[in-house]
Amino acid sequence: MNRNSAFRILLADHNCRTRRELARFLVHRNHDVDCASTGYQATRALRKRDYDLILSDINLPQLSFFDLAAHLETEGLETDVVVIANLLDLDRAVSAMHEGAADFLLRPHDLKKVAYTVERIRELKDRRADDARRLQIRREAQMQEETTLALARAAEERDRMNIGHGRRVASYAVEIGRGLCFTEARLERLAFAGKLHDIGKIGIDDAILNKPGRLNDEEYAVMKRHSEIGEYILKPVSAFRDIAPIIRHHHERFDGAGYPDGLAGDEIPLDARILCLCDFFDAITSKRPYREPASLEQALEIIAEEKGAFFDPLVSEVFIKMHHPRRAVVAI
Ligand SMILES: [Fe+2]
Ligand SMILES: [Fe+2]
Repeated sequence: MNRNSAFRILLADHNCRTRRELARFLVHRNHDVDCASTGYQATRALRKRDYDLILSDINLPQLSFFDLAAHLETEGLETDVVVIANLLDLDRAVSAMHEGAADFLLRPHDLKKVAYTVERIRELKDRRADDARRLQIRREAQMQEETTLALARAAEERDRMNIGHGRRVASYAVEIGRGLCFTEARLERLAFAGKLHDIGKIGIDDAILNKPGRLNDEEYAVMKRHSEIGEYILKPVSAFRDIAPIIRHHHERFDGAGYPDGLAGDEIPLDARILCLCDFFDAITSKRPYREPASLEQALEIIAEEKGAFFDPLVSEVFIKMHHPRRAVVAI
């Protein structure tokens, strides 16, 4: 909750004077206060809007604290309740604390104590909300990781010649991202994109995907569809929505001769330009049934030659510098 926003309080007390005094005091402290004089009014107010805190008379007509606690539980509300009691009702106030009341206030009211109690509960509530947000972020990150792993495994099960390709592309891409001073969040996104860049191959016919020899023109045209299929698979998943365009464009060339859209230069998302180079590097240094793998030297030679044509010049420089420091042409 935003600390500057009003804390919504339901003040339920049958005593008119108590209601008036406390409401005036709390409103003066910028809280948003509704009043109820009976249990019926209190439960009706609770149905109409959400409250952050209920200050409730322990002897509220038609609704004891225990009825109120049961009502909140039935309605699935986690609103904090502070009971208001006379000294004679101290035992019941303590029982209410055992049953889940956040605190109690004794009559006659010490307004300093009221202010302190409300602030303490507000701070607790803020802390709980922060904890819940952090937990939610952790859960989402874990879900994204697990989904990535499951999808990557599915892709590898289909594309048996490329086991480990996604993971290697992801790790080369992250190295380049570090060289370009990407934030940790962006590096994480790049790693997910690297692992999933060929997910669209799930939609390619087995005879083409696992053909031992080179693909003919017709087969190659079918294979090229994998980048669009990959985008199509990932787009409906909110956690992968910003990765989907990177997947779509990972085969665009810097000079505009790539696919699927023939984008050139800065039109291609930078992360896709990075994946394009890493994808090439891993493919050319991997063994194929129809050719031996290129050496590191040979691969870097080709990347240097294709700088500005196939590959983004800056991305190429960073990659070459990382793998062959003495060849670096520009400092970054
Ligand atoms: Fe690909
Ligand atoms: Fe690939």
